[in-house]
Amino acid sequence: MRIAVGSDHRGYQIRAKIIELLQRLGHDVVDVGTDRPDPVDYPDIAAMVAEKVSHKEVERGVLICGTGLGMCIAANKFPGVRAAPCHDDLTAEMSRRHNDLNILCLSADLLGERLIDRMVELWLETPFEGGRHARRVDRITQIERDSCQPPPAS
Ligand code: RB5
Repeated sequence: MRIAVGSDHRGYQIRAKIIELLQRLGHDVVDVGTDRPDPVDYPDIAAMVAEKVSHKEVERGVLICGTGLGMCIAANKFPGVRAAPCHDDLTAEMSRRHNDLNILCLSADLLGERLIDRMVELWLETPFEGGRHARRVDRITQIERDSCQPPPAS
């Protein structure tokens, strides 16, 4: 799978470990940085990854910041992106089964390395169930399209 990965300064060390894991598992990684501890603004990193997912240049994305929250908020501004912070095995698995999550957001401050590795693997290997969940995800896409239309002239 082709996967874009980005983090802000809070997540740059764990990002390097996630990239190692993804490559070991045979995935093709597009790394957008940052590689340094100097502060960067998470929306800029989120935008680089989310744009690639939105344009289908990559199939999935992983974003890491202090809490995973800011990355999620910014990434979800892009059409077709379904990003959410996951924090345990259950959320990692269900985000795929029911929500077809295409960007996994992670907290560098709150999650341990072993848990992150397990969650990333679960998230990669778990399929979307489709069926009634596809109807709901399609509805999200429809809401996104409708909300991007200009308001009717008054
Ligand atoms: C950066 O200080 C911090 O705000 C960021 O990493 C993230 O937690 C935002 O949601």
